[in-house]
Amino acid sequence: MKRLAVFLVLLSSSLVVSRDRLFEILSPSPSCRLSSDLTSQTFFFPTLSNTAYIQLMPSLNEILFNLTVCLWFFSDESKQLNLFSWATPAEPNSLKLFLLTDRRCCLYVAGKPATFLALPYERNRWNSICISWESSVGLTQLWVNGVESPKKAVHAGGSTADTPIVVLGQDQDICGGKFNITDAFVLHVTDVHMWDYGLSPCELQNYTNNMAFTPGNCLNWKTLEHNKHNYMVVDRNRWGKEKGGGV
Ligand SMILES: *[C@@H]1O[C@H](CO)[C@@H](O)[C@H](O)[C@H]1NC(C)=O
Ligand SMILES: *[C@@H]1O[C@H](CO)[C@@H](O)[C@H](O)[C@H]1NC(C)=O
Ligand SMILES: *[C@@H]1O[C@H](CO)[C@@H](O)[C@H](O)[C@H]1NC(C)=O
Repeated sequence: MKRLAVFLVLLSSSLVVSRDRLFEILSPSPSCRLSSDLTSQTFFFPTLSNTAYIQLMPSLNEILFNLTVCLWFFSDESKQLNLFSWATPAEPNSLKLFLLTDRRCCLYVAGKPATFLALPYERNRWNSICISWESSVGLTQLWVNGVESPKKAVHAGGSTADTPIVVLGQDQDICGGKFNITDAFVLHVTDVHMWDYGLSPCELQNYTNNMAFTPGNCLNWKTLEHNKHNYMVVDRNRWGKEKGGGV
């Protein structure tokens, strides 16, 4: 285990340079990279396209063995909905969350899937969703609108070391691109946070109920570094998450 950890540290440090290069290629100019407090703001992806997306720059110093990601989304789509796409050069589905029809949710960690059934998300209302993964036991879990899924096994003992490109609004078929219009969707997303540890059940409930939680230390909606690409809109959320079905 110790030897594996050393290997992973070496692997990740050797990839730091290529991450910077990838960001250079993906960022049209440094001035496009924004770090802003997005409180009360929403990302709108208002048309079907394979060009509009947001790239997020996570704060990451180490390899991830534990993680939690939470976000709110709103859509009227009944087809597959890609909510979070974290790709690395070696594995495009390094961390990927998408919704299928019939209220099934699918989470990939390091290219390996776990599917969750009968979670209560609805079309045409705001939904909260959190995902967690803990390497030591290889368990993932989802919370949708405060409802907890069973824990399911994926990628025990692994890590998500490597050089991520994190995208909202598109699914990366290869790291940093190959977006397919058939995977596109109209979507609103807000309050995206990511932690390199597991949240307590109380904080997970608060994320859905009253937003009283410690902001993410990897991705924080209040200081979110991001790049906007093509036609998507960052604007005030004018109707509030409660209206149209808070929990
Ligand atoms: C991951 O989380 C578990 C449970 O909270 C904790 O016991 C473990 O030390 C954490 N591992 C790392 C590498 O932070
Ligand atoms: C897009 O996805 C569809 C369905 O999976 C596939 O048939 C098509 O070949 C893909 N297009 C490209 C350009 O990869
Ligand atoms: C959850 O919210 C309640 C009510 O605002 C607050 O008292 C509590 O400290 C919060 N819990 C955590 C873990 O932040």
